Amino acid sequence: MVDKESNKTHFGFTEVAVEDKARLVGEVFSSVADSYDIMNDLMSFGVHRLWKRHFVRRVAIQPGAKVLDLAGGTGDIARLLLPRVGNAGSVVLSDINPEMLAVGRARMEDQGIVKGLEYVLANAEELPFQDSSFDAITIAFGLRNVTDKAAALLEMHRVLKPGGQVNILEFSQVKSKIMERLYEQYSFSLLPKIGAIVAKDEDSYRYLAESIRKHPDQETLANMLRDAGFKKVSYENMTNGVVAIHRGYHV
Ligand SMILES: C[S@@+](CC[C@H](N)C(=O)[O-])C[C@H]1O[C@@H](n2cnc3c(N)ncnc32)[C@H](O)[C@@H]1O
Repeated sequence: MVDKESNKTHFGFTEVAVEDKARLVGEVFSSVADSYDIMNDLMSFGVHRLWKRHFVRRVAIQPGAKVLDLAGGTGDIARLLLPRVGNAGSVVLSDINPEMLAVGRARMEDQGIVKGLEYVLANAEELPFQDSSFDAITIAFGLRNVTDKAAALLEMHRVLKPGGQVNILEFSQVKSKIMERLYEQYSFSLLPKIGAIVAKDEDSYRYLAESIRKHPDQETLANMLRDAGFKKVSYENMTNGVVAIHRGYHV
């Protein structure tokens, strides 16, 4: 969270100046972009694919919808959204990091996925879209990296059409004590080691574990959505709260 008085925020467990966080996060994702997809499979034992599939299935859209995937990285969510919006719809895959978007674009083009997809380099805090542009917005494992989450939620509200839905998939607070202990051990001991071997970058994967701990829990994030103007806010835990899906509507 941003502390407006001290102008500080957190980068993992480290307190940093607000203006430095985006650069530090940028360095993390520029460093891991090439190994991002393989690391996701390795560190979640493939479970991230199940979470993402369930997440996209639950997005309330009809064929023909225009959807914005924010912090979309290498495009896992955009790829799953495309069949949902059909030939008449479109998906904007957007991210602040050019390296992540480039890896995503190359992967999509390799798979022959071109139609209905647009790539936009954008900071979630200042979206380059007009008011009421999208039927739905998705953001998966992205919000915790954004410096000013309240500003990003306001922007999401602004660019959604009335009746549109925001969908957030993010790590959250684990609801079982045993699971919490195992998860703690795993993310602070094993995860940075896997990062060191596969991505040659232990620090970025330590940041990942720390950023998960610093992210608002289920109720706090639900209230942040309400503060940004979203209505009918709800959330759904998966894997005992390891991740949660939050939803809200622009009414
Ligand atoms: C963990 S990745 C998630 C990528 C993808 N959504 C997925 O689920 O695989 C987080 C992404 O958030 C992006 N990001 C970080 N800060 C951002 C911001 N302020 N605005 C937009 N994207 C941001 C990063 O560049 C990175 O691609």
